[in-house]
Amino acid sequence: MGFKVAIAGATGNVGREMLNILSERGFPADEVVALASSRSQGTEVSYGDRTLKVSNLENYDFSDTDICLMSAGGEVSKKYSPKIGQQGCIVIDNSSAWRYDADVPLIVPEVNPDAISQFTKRNIIANPNCSTAQLVVALKPLHDFAKIKRVVISTYQSVSGAGKDGMDELFNQTRAVFVADPIENKKFTKRIAFNVIPHIDVFMEDGYTKEEWKVLAETKKMLDPKIKVTCTAVRVPVFIGHSESVNIEFENEITADQARDILRDAPGCLVIDKRENGGYITPYESAGEDATYISRIREDATVENGLNIWVVSDNLRKGAALNAIQIAELLVNRGLVKPRKQAA
Ligand code: A2P
Repeated sequence: MGFKVAIAGATGNVGREMLNILSERGFPADEVVALASSRSQGTEVSYGDRTLKVSNLENYDFSDTDICLMSAGGEVSKKYSPKIGQQGCIVIDNSSAWRYDADVPLIVPEVNPDAISQFTKRNIIANPNCSTAQLVVALKPLHDFAKIKRVVISTYQSVSGAGKDGMDELFNQTRAVFVADPIENKKFTKRIAFNVIPHIDVFMEDGYTKEEWKVLAETKKMLDPKIKVTCTAVRVPVFIGHSESVNIEFENEITADQARDILRDAPGCLVIDKRENGGYITPYESAGEDATYISRIREDATVENGLNIWVVSDNLRKGAALNAIQIAELLVNRGLVKPRKQAA
């Protein structure tokens, strides 16, 4: 007997990817329900070779649904997730609404799978920020080997991380440049076409942005609260795939060769690191793929036990939809969720 799974935000970038990945990985679902706002009610989305009609999240009764994969933004999640959880349905939420609550586990299955058992109080499990997910997949095996003291990250984040409106804005502005139309900024604060913007999410009092703070807080929550983390998060004119330049300082000795071997064997990681033209990964190549790619592994001679690495992944997959479905698979594999509805 399989599960009943709802996707809330099924018409969005991440929601559509969730439907693709559920089908691709053969998740044991007997029934999949697509939910979005009233604006999308009655429209259609694809699930494998099937088409699902979209229902309104507002009116949906979750009492026989086992898992809700939610990617409809923080405000929607704050409003609906507690009620869904109270109906006995486990919410795996992609927004930042619950990530920092002590009784909500924040999970990357390759990194901290055992923390998942803490979900029972609220029936909510949080999926990390897209930049953090790929980062911790690469950091975890290195931390296990040589104990990380400090990490300095600069991100190069694609527009799909800002939803489908972000992708439309890059497309429309690029077109406008070529046909000499006026450029309109709606989603981003400055023009994104042929530009980079050092600002993602809101500014905080200390001058960092919320996106930068999320990388710090989430890395500490999932990997180790003792690691010092600092980040600069930048939006770049790439449709899909986040890249990160990561400088790591370790407590113990680690060479570039050792790091390469460790990352080659690590779950979720794929090393592409030839020191020659094209011997590294770019975000364009990561789109549609599941791996966290690591390239440009080299020692940083300016500190004791330092490394620089380049980390790239499809932000809609490992950074969002894939990780959420891996969490659902973890629930199933550990027997933490049982189908509530008898198959018709
Ligand atoms: P809709 O298409 O009906 O607006 P993205 O992050 O790619 O922009 O996608 C956001 C997703 O969240 C979409 O599926 C969107 O549905 C959904 N969403 C936004 N607001 C609500 C809401 N109030 N109730 C349910 N779903 C919502």
